[in-house]
Amino acid sequence: MTKTFDVLVIGSGIAGLSFALDVAKRGHSVAILTKKTKADSSTNWAQGGLAAVTAQTDDFKAHVRDTLAAGAGLCDPRVVRAIVGAGPECVRELADWGVRFSRDATGGYDLGREGGHGKRRILHVKDMTGRAIEVALLKALAREPRIAVFEHCFAIDVIRRRRRHGGAGDRVLGAYALDVRDGRVHTFCAPVVMLATGGAGQVYLYTTNPDIATGDGIAMAWRAGVEVRNMEFIQFHPTALYSATGRRFLISEAVRGEGAVLRNAAGEAFMRAYHPMGDLAPRDIVARAIDTEMKKSGAPHVWLDITHRSEAFLRTRFPQIFKTCRQLGLNLARDLVPVVPAAHYVCGGVATTIAAETSLPGLYACGEVACTGLHGANRLASNSLLEAVVMARRGADSVDRYLRAERGRPAPAIPDWVDLGGGDGDERVVISHNWDELRRTMWDYVGIMRTTKRLERARTRISNLAREIHDYYWNFSVDPRLLELRNMIQVAELIVACALQRQESRGLHAIADYPQPLRKARDSRLSQT
Ligand code: FAD
Ligand code: SIN
Repeated sequence: MTKTFDVLVIGSGIAGLSFALDVAKRGHSVAILTKKTKADSSTNWAQGGLAAVTAQTDDFKAHVRDTLAAGAGLCDPRVVRAIVGAGPECVRELADWGVRFSRDATGGYDLGREGGHGKRRILHVKDMTGRAIEVALLKALAREPRIAVFEHCFAIDVIRRRRRHGGAGDRVLGAYALDVRDGRVHTFCAPVVMLATGGAGQVYLYTTNPDIATGDGIAMAWRAGVEVRNMEFIQFHPTALYSATGRRFLISEAVRGEGAVLRNAAGEAFMRAYHPMGDLAPRDIVARAIDTEMKKSGAPHVWLDITHRSEAFLRTRFPQIFKTCRQLGLNLARDLVPVVPAAHYVCGGVATTIAAETSLPGLYACGEVACTGLHGANRLASNSLLEAVVMARRGADSVDRYLRAERGRPAPAIPDWVDLGGGDGDERVVISHNWDELRRTMWDYVGIMRTTKRLERARTRISNLAREIHDYYWNFSVDPRLLELRNMIQVAELIVACALQRQESRGLHAIADYPQPLRKARDSRLSQT
C-alpha cells in the first residue's frame, strides 16, 4: 500500500514529536512512523532534565563554556552558541505544549545540577522529566488534525532517487516501512523525511537505553549514502544501578547534583583524585575513574552514597529512583547503592547542518540520531533534550522553505518494495545468537578504555557477523529483530571505523596506544560517496 504526505517523520520521541508539531503548524501534512507504541522512546526514560539558562545568576556564556569544556575541543562553537541561546525559547515552547517543570518554594524553577555544569541550570519534573515531556507532546499531537501516527510501523530504508553525473538531482522520496502486526511492507511517499530515531545504546551489552535504541536511523542514512560523523564518541553514563540481571536502570547524575558521593570498594571517596570538580566532573572523566577503580579492586561495581540526605527529601525529589531501589531492598537514605557505567548516548551520528539538513536533499535528522556539532567529543549532561527541541524548530523552518521551493515539482515514480525472501524456520535462532555476540563484542572490545588491537579484533568479528546477516537479509522475509540486527551491525562497524581513524585520546575516546589529544581537533567523517 502506498501513502503520500508532505513530511514523513520517523520516530516519536522528543525530536520527532516536537518537529511534527512545529511543521504541521505551518500547514503541512505529516505522518509519524514509530516502530513500537508511541511512547516507546529514550525520551520517555529521561530523568535529570533539560539544561537551559533561566536563572538570574546564570548566563549564556557560562552554559556555552561548560558545553565546550565537556566537548574536549571538538564542539562547533557556532552551533553551541545557537542552541544554548535558544534555551529559554525552548522552555517556553515546552510550557506551551503543557510541560510543567518542578518549581521551588519561591515559585521559580527548581534547578538541578549535573556533571560538568558550573551552575544549577537543569529544569526537571522530579526524576521523570522525559515522561512528562512525552505525555505533554502526545497530548498536543492528539489536538493536531494534520498529523497521522502509525504505530508498530518499522521504517526499513529511506528511498533515494539516484541520478548519475555525481549525484546532482538526487533527493529523498520517502521510506519503506514494515507493519509489524501484519508483516506487510508499505511505501510512504514524501518529499521530506525527518529521521528522529534516537540512539544506539543496544549495540552494547550493558546500556541505560530502552529496547528501541538500535541505531536504525544512522544505519538507514548510511545505506542511503549520507555522511556520518564522530561515531567513536559513545557516552557511558557513570551511574547505572548494578544488578545481576544485566538490566541497567539509570541513577540520575542529579543525585550527585544533590550531594551524592562515589566510593570505591574500600569505602573511599575517590573522584577528587581524578578532577577538581570531583563527583560533578564531566561524564567521560567520572566513567573512566570508576572503570579504573573497579579494575584496581576487582569489584564488580562502585558505591553511590547519598545517605546524608533525609528520606523525605529523597522520596520527593527522586520518587522513581527511590522506588526502584526500594524494590531491590535498598533505601537511598540509609544504604550505599551499587553502580556501574553503561552505554548511554551516541554523541556522533548523521551529520547535519544547524538547520537539520543532511547531505541528501529532503532528508533531515534531529535528536540523538544527528550530529550537529553541539556535543563534540563528550555531551554535557542534559543538553540532548534541549538540542532536540531547538533543532526540531530549526528543522521545521528549513523544511517549510524546502517544501515551498519544491511546490509544483512532479513526484517521481517510486519502485515497489521487493521481498526476495520468504524462507523461514529454526535457522532464525542465529539472529539472537548474533545479536548477543555483537553486543558482547562491543562491550569487551569497544568500551570505555580502548586499544588498537582490541578495535581490530572487534572489526574482524563484526565483519563476519555482517556477512552472515547479509545472507539472512536477502534470504528471509523481513522481521523487526532481523532489521534491528542488520542496523546494529552497521552502526557497530561505523563506531569501530571512526575509533580506528582517531589516533588520539579525546573526550569519550580513550585509547591506550595514543594517550594524548592531538594539537588540532578534527571530526571523523565517514562517507560512501
Ligand atoms: P527517542 O526518544 O529515543 O525516540 C526515538 C523514536 O524513534 C522512538 O519512537 C522509536 O521507536 C523510533 N524508531 C527508532 N527506529 C525506528 C524505525 N526503524 N522505524 C520507526 N520508528 C523508529 N537527555 C537529557 O538531555 N536529559 C536527561 O535527563 C536524560 N536522561 C536520560 C535517561 C535515560 C535512561 C536515557 C536512556 C537517556 C537520557 N537522556 C537524557 C538522553 C535523551 O533522553 C535522548 O537523547 C533523547 O530523548 C532522544 O530523543 P529522540 O527523540 O532523538 O529519540
Ligand atoms: C541523568 O539524569 O543523569 C541523565 C542526564 C543526561 O543523560 O543528560
